[in-house]
Amino acid sequence: MALERTFSILKPDATERNLTGAVNAVIEKAGLRIVAQKRIHMTRNQAETFYGVHRERPFFGELVDFMVSAPVVVQVLEGDNAIARYRDVMGATNPANAADGTIRKLFAKSVGENTVHGSDAPETAAIEIAQFFAGNEIVG
Ligand code: CMP
Repeated sequence: MALERTFSILKPDATERNLTGAVNAVIEKAGLRIVAQKRIHMTRNQAETFYGVHRERPFFGELVDFMVSAPVVVQVLEGDNAIARYRDVMGATNPANAADGTIRKLFAKSVGENTVHGSDAPETAAIEIAQFFAGNEIVG
């Protein structure tokens, strides 16, 4: 198995409801290590850059508004097959379709306010990590 790193965001609906510890407990129970973490309030520019791939989607404005509405926690998670493993732990994007025990089934409010983000591939993980963390901030 490959030791990988993935990028995670605990979104505004998680910080506003004081759920960051509860979400982190699910992450750690799944065997992922939080090797970097910081709480930030994203700027509109950061959110638009981060979600640039969705710029043409009808929900883009709503998505950016939500991501700048309250603090978030950005993280780097490390583990065997961390990218796929975290996507399993998060559950489906729409919590209505998420499996029992997943973060989104447990905590998400809607497809927009869905508690967490996780990278979808090694290339995007590297880009997303580099947007928010310097190498010396990641301690594995
Ligand atoms: P995320 O994994 O962060 O990546 C893109 C985000 O867009 C996704 O999670 C959802 O929160 C959001 N998203 C996807 N579809 C919709 C939608 N129909 N309405 C609002 N937000 C959406």
